Amino acid sequence: MDELRVTGGRPLRGRVRVPGDKSISHRAVLVAARAEGTSVVRGLSGGDDVARTVAAVEALGAEVEGRAGAPEVRIGGGEGRLQEPECVLDVGNSGTGIRLLAGFCAAFDWLTVLAGDRSVNQRPMDRVAEPLRSMGAAVDGRDGGRYAPLVVRGGGLQGIDYTPSVASAQVKSAVLLAGLGADGETVVREPVASRAHTEELLAACGADLEVTAEGKGCTVRVRRSALQPFSLDVPGDPSQAAFWVVAACVTPGSDVVVEDVYLGPARAGFVDVLLRMGADVERVGESALRARYGPLRGTDVVAEEVPGLVDEIPVLAVAAAVAEGPSRFGGAAELRVKESDRITTVSEGLRAFGAVVETKADGFIVAGGTRLAPARASAQGDHRVAMAMAVAAMAADGESLVDGWESVATSYPAFERDLAALTGGGDEP
Ligand code: S3P
Repeated sequence: MDELRVTGGRPLRGRVRVPGDKSISHRAVLVAARAEGTSVVRGLSGGDDVARTVAAVEALGAEVEGRAGAPEVRIGGGEGRLQEPECVLDVGNSGTGIRLLAGFCAAFDWLTVLAGDRSVNQRPMDRVAEPLRSMGAAVDGRDGGRYAPLVVRGGGLQGIDYTPSVASAQVKSAVLLAGLGADGETVVREPVASRAHTEELLAACGADLEVTAEGKGCTVRVRRSALQPFSLDVPGDPSQAAFWVVAACVTPGSDVVVEDVYLGPARAGFVDVLLRMGADVERVGESALRARYGPLRGTDVVAEEVPGLVDEIPVLAVAAAVAEGPSRFGGAAELRVKESDRITTVSEGLRAFGAVVETKADGFIVAGGTRLAPARASAQGDHRVAMAMAVAAMAADGESLVDGWESVATSYPAFERDLAALTGGGDEP
């Protein structure tokens, strides 16, 4: 097992670019595989999760030039190229990968077997199995299809009108991708809108698609469509930017600019929370974020905000630990079924640094006002827990260790390099 050693208390200063957005990267690869021709994607996430999705579309017959993480990847796709996979598609640690691929493959008259690692095998899959079954696919898996490995026999689908019971972009996207090959109209209604990347990309590729915003929610309609190939620069991942933004907010003397970050719908909620906490964070131009150290105060994060910042809660909890006064994170039971049970793993991790955390069924209360002390913490097999612990370590004066650091390879292999650059004594950003 790898460990990350962090010398805390060193200010972070300078400019940083984070990896290409992971959610957009998965979708770019899948939509390119379906588009009739060659698409060009620049800045694809170089993490293992997206590499697995690239390998999956290759196994499905797409022609891929370049690897995830290369400056440019060309993907030749289209229905004439795609075929039933001869092997199991292994998504590794990626819940997004397995759920989106289930929807993608359901649209075709194939038998597809989707498998992942231990974490993926413990995550709920009925949320995609159920709507795909009501469209006409046969979806099976362990425990009646609740858990991976999943077996999908697709084809002959009918559109459905579906309101997911959990706010999940993965569910919405799986149903929409299946809807691309279904007869009639497929409708997904979200009471609170989740990230919009699938519909944004499908619309850009000429899909027969309509999005209607309704208050905090949205409805997306799609019909069988042939997609046009596209050229895309994947913007930086806001969920990764959040680690540097919070690190700057909690480490004295810090001043960091994160360049070229996607700040579109349902992704920038963490900035609003930090502003409520009194953080010195600002948008610079269209897509950069600047964050400087300063005092923070506690805040409450409520259920309807959660879809817009679900992946940022682990690192927001670090900000809450040092803030003056308590912070309550509620309505976030989804955290229990991420790459780890993040309600438990984040609570345990923060306690190692001296924070006072009360664990609830659907979130936690962080007491605040803690001067974090160096610690030995565990990634618990979860990349975002690993990086949140690294941020806590940056704020704690002295040497800390994060065990299980290898889990960061799924989304941000260069985190350690970027940390070294930001704490290397540079000047103004
Ligand atoms: C993702 C959606 C989110 C998020 C995950 C990526 C996506 O999951 O936690 O890291 O790319 O669609 P849910 O929308 O299922 O909560």
